[in-house]
Amino acid sequence: MAGSTIGRLLTLTTFGESHGKAIGAVLDGFPAGMALSEEDIQPYLDRRRPNASALSTSRKESDRVELLSGVFEGRTTGTPIAMLLRNEDAHSSDYDALKDLYRPGHADMTYDAKYGFRDHRGGGRSSGRETAARVMGGAVCAKLLKELGITVQAKALTVGTPAEGDSAGGVIEVVMKGVPAGVGDPVFDKLDARLASALMSIGAVKAVEVGAGVSASSMRGSEMNDAFTAEDGQIKTKTNHAGGILGGISNGMPVVLRCHVKPTPSISLPQESVNRRGGSVTIEIGGRHDAVIVPRAVVVAECMCAFTLLDLMLSGMGARMEDVKKRYSL
Ligand SMILES: Cc1cc2nc3c(=O)[nH]c(=O)nc-3n(C[C@H](O)[C@H](O)[C@H](O)COP(=O)(O)O)c2cc1C
Repeated sequence: MAGSTIGRLLTLTTFGESHGKAIGAVLDGFPAGMALSEEDIQPYLDRRRPNASALSTSRKESDRVELLSGVFEGRTTGTPIAMLLRNEDAHSSDYDALKDLYRPGHADMTYDAKYGFRDHRGGGRSSGRETAARVMGGAVCAKLLKELGITVQAKALTVGTPAEGDSAGGVIEVVMKGVPAGVGDPVFDKLDARLASALMSIGAVKAVEVGAGVSASSMRGSEMNDAFTAEDGQIKTKTNHAGGILGGISNGMPVVLRCHVKPTPSISLPQESVNRRGGSVTIEIGGRHDAVIVPRAVVVAECMCAFTLLDLMLSGMGARMEDVKKRYSL
């Protein structure tokens, strides 16, 4: 696989470029029988759309999801769920001046280094627009989780203040409640490892913390360890520095992560750069960009976590002999 598919048992593939005909997602391995319509997905996309605030791009996409497959008579069929968003408001000529130039902080230089050829229009595949496809997949997963009493909610913890022509970053927190103890696989597919990987795959995310996160390195064991208690026969912890995960497996407490988002790379202030041939240039970026990515990335983080949690929950279903027997014994 060349990096456009995430997941093991449940997989999410995204396709399309910022200024191509459309972008889309294919969610495969999703259980049959869940009621699903475009109305379940659309509210998530609406949360990702640019808003009227000065922090968002002025690109105007209606972002109406088209559910192409995997649903019959209003229920999922267990076959690939394909979802499409047509690109309507791409101003590709805004990017003509950038065809041979490398935007500092963006993926132009590295895409050229890898492929020797790139779709420069709006950042092509490295555009934040790709994340709309992730949101479609995650929205479907969030619906299933909700049916199990599990909620995945993200919010902006901090949003930087950009100065004129500049950009800023911020922090997003994701909290998953109702996650039963026992989700996550040992060693390479630890719940925290998989969630961190999913969040780090979002453009502009530079760090992910779980629970106490970086502050854990300056705590003592006696402070960091969450004391166990039992309430009505349920094992809980008094604090949640672990962020709901021990040994890569959920412990029944809320799963808590934070991702740190860098300032938007495309800024209109003059910057030093080079062209494809290595010649020095001063670059001033036009086009439509988010001055701060955080507000639009909140739902993206939520969706990546919903997808990852569901994938691990599905893959954990064969962990116990009794469950295998329940499913397959006559
Ligand atoms: C929701 C979202 C919107 C984004 N909008 C922009 C944008 O308007 N302009 C821009 O230069 N980068 C934007 N980005 C960031 C780039 O996609 C990202 O910085 C780039 O692909 C380089 O990847 P890296 O920052 O992870 O190294 C956005 C990212 C996300 C998640």
